[in-house]
Amino acid sequence: PLSTELRPDGSITIAGSSLKKLAKDFGSPLYLYDSETIRANIQKLKNAFSTFYPGNFAIAYASKAYLSRKFAEKIAKQDIELDVVSMAELLIALKAGFSPKQIHFHGNNKTTEEIQKAIDCNIHALVIDNMDELLYAEKIAASKNKCVKIWLRITPDIHVKTHPHIETSAAESKFGFHVTTGEAKAGIQYALKSHFFELTGLHCHLGSQIFDPLPYRITIQMLYDLASECGYVPSELSPGGGWGVPYSTEDPVADPNDWIEHISSAVIEQCRQKQMPLPKIVIEPGRWLVAKAGVSIYQIGSQKSTPNGLRIIAINGGMSDNPRNALYQAKYTAVINGKIASNEVFPSRIVGKFCESGDTLIDQVYLPEAERDDLLIIPVSGAYQLSMASNYNLAPRPAVLWLESGGIYELLQYRENPEESSWWA
Ligand code: LLP
Repeated sequence: PLSTELRPDGSITIAGSSLKKLAKDFGSPLYLYDSETIRANIQKLKNAFSTFYPGNFAIAYASKAYLSRKFAEKIAKQDIELDVVSMAELLIALKAGFSPKQIHFHGNNKTTEEIQKAIDCNIHALVIDNMDELLYAEKIAASKNKCVKIWLRITPDIHVKTHPHIETSAAESKFGFHVTTGEAKAGIQYALKSHFFELTGLHCHLGSQIFDPLPYRITIQMLYDLASECGYVPSELSPGGGWGVPYSTEDPVADPNDWIEHISSAVIEQCRQKQMPLPKIVIEPGRWLVAKAGVSIYQIGSQKSTPNGLRIIAINGGMSDNPRNALYQAKYTAVINGKIASNEVFPSRIVGKFCESGDTLIDQVYLPEAERDDLLIIPVSGAYQLSMASNYNLAPRPAVLWLESGGIYELLQYRENPEESSWWA
């Protein structure tokens, strides 16, 4: 986070709060969000649009990266829109003060109730994923005699460089109307004729953790070729989210200004070529807005060396609060609170406490000597960790704090308490 400080004794503070004290007061694993980083990230994207795009734009936070009611309340104050993919995300967003006009609803297989609710509360856009859903949503809209604002999610059938589990742009993808089969064209033509839809825009999400702006440019051209083939002029265009965040020195460093610049210039170029007015561009960053604002804190427990000399450090969390290494071989780095200045470091593997060998958080990181109860700090923990957290081995999900400068903090989410009645009791 932006407001991280290293004290002379090697201990860390964020936004003026000592991590040691927070871990003592709230226990660990503990997750923190630095408010200043989130605000600065939102502002950076807004500034980039102001620089590169003369038309309207909106930043929609992809709430699957992390959402809780209090967190939603915090970001509702930041003048951004929200992308939701489930009934619970929609209800939380509304409760937290988002206007339905700021919400769009994604998903490849929305339930009947989700479609009904989205239609009933007049959200900004119901993002229709496939032909089957288009016909089904039309039936629901017709039964309510409503004209629903929709986008169509188009799949360009190209590959992007990322982990296969988080690539959504290829011909094999379960998401979207495919361009190469003619499905995308048929979807647009159908939506334009229907009395129950107002096709306000086209959408595409290529995948996540992407560091190259070129596929966005190619996709925007494809979307405009498609629109012009159908005689359709989109008033909104969403190239999705997906801009990457470096987690360790192995990841490329990519400036989101490049992303916005490419998106903007591709849209401007296409509109000029096709003689269409500039649309409102809606981007949907999840990771880029929150990953670097988040920090996870664990306590070190057992340590050992394997016969081949691998140093293993076990912490009191693991794949239940962060399954990203297990799922995507995601890389992370870590430091030990109070020992950062130490110059002798050893290659170490960070493992969790859960009953399987896939429960590794970091395959290799260089760390100094550590003792039981030292705090292990993992930066860049704000996206897709808590939101994918589980109760594996019936582990309670961790507490989450929101940090404001001057040592002010607020509890966003309680640590689950196995002593209290809950679904497993
Ligand atoms: N828009 C749509 C339609 C999406 O499906 C997603 C993410 C986003 C926007 C935001 O993407 P972002 O800017 O955060 O990359 N669990 C995986 C990531 C899954 C992303 C799913 N969709 C991970 O931990 O890497």
